[in-house]
Amino acid sequence: MPNVVPHSDVIIQDVIIQIDNVHKSYVMGKEAVPALRGVSLDIRRGEMVCLMGPSGSGKTTLLNITGGLDSPGRGHVTIDGHNIVSMKEEGLARLRLATMGFVFQTFNLLSNFTALENVEAPMVLLGKWPRRERKARAEALLTSVGLGDRMEHYPSELSGGQQQRVAIARALANDPAIVIGDEMTGDLDSATGFEIMTLVRDLKDRQGKTIVYVTHDPRMAEFADYTVHMLDGRIVDEAASAIHRAGGEHPAHGNVAVAADAPDHDGAGSPASAPYARTAPVAERSR
Ligand SMILES: Nc1ncnc2c1ncn2[C@@H]1O[C@H](COP(=O)(O)OP(=O)(O)OP(=O)(O)O)[C@@H](O)[C@H]1O
Ligand SMILES: [Mg+2]
Repeated sequence: MPNVVPHSDVIIQDVIIQIDNVHKSYVMGKEAVPALRGVSLDIRRGEMVCLMGPSGSGKTTLLNITGGLDSPGRGHVTIDGHNIVSMKEEGLARLRLATMGFVFQTFNLLSNFTALENVEAPMVLLGKWPRRERKARAEALLTSVGLGDRMEHYPSELSGGQQQRVAIARALANDPAIVIGDEMTGDLDSATGFEIMTLVRDLKDRQGKTIVYVTHDPRMAEFADYTVHMLDGRIVDEAASAIHRAGGEHPAHGNVAVAADAPDHDGAGSPASAPYARTAPVAERSR
């Protein structure tokens, strides 16, 4: 367990995702297969959190419940102030569209839509932006992920890394506060995986997005502020990433000066907050 700053020194930050004693079982024939057995986790606005653990430990289940894609059997989930357990499907679908962006291992792009149309699709569904603005937003998003010259391409005409960039642009279409990723780099070679994770980390650093993602690759976990380790449907450990333990540069992320870049953490430089500023709230976060 790392140093824990005394509770009174921690500036209480805005908790955007609150998961409280969540249980989930899947019924298989006559048997209930437990996937989550009492998970509690608070994620603050602007944090980047990685979930790791062996296959079957419940990572995807927790991510899907966090994203309102699946409902908990027991327990409470609050997302951006909304108790999603009691929400009707229509309201939940709208909350998902407006508040969350999803990125998956297999990109999940619509194959008969161009890159531009794929990015426009969530905007069409939410209906918040007029048509002309939708196109301009989609173009700007694709340009921001380095695909300004590939907008009219179909997914089959793009590399895996490019398809994942389209998926990231699509996830950002409605300017969500939260980005959720399940094995985003699982189908990519290492170099492309690092590029994608650099892009995702930038969403936190430059735009203050909250990011929750699953990976099996410890190198990709290092992009997070901290990693939650799961085993058999429970959280067994939390650890800050190397950059935050050291309070220095991210080995895979160029010149990210974490203390200076963190818009929403307690005062960098105070003896109590450095170098464990990111790990301090762990004690309250995982209850
Ligand atoms: N739709 C489902 N129906 C039945 N059982 C399920 C379903 N989804 C998940 N499970 C079970 O719940 C448990 C947790 O699954 P989950 O997919 O969350 O694991 P995971 O940690 O994401 O694994 P992986 O690393 O292989 O993706 C497993 O025992 C799995 O078999
Ligand atoms: Mg999974």
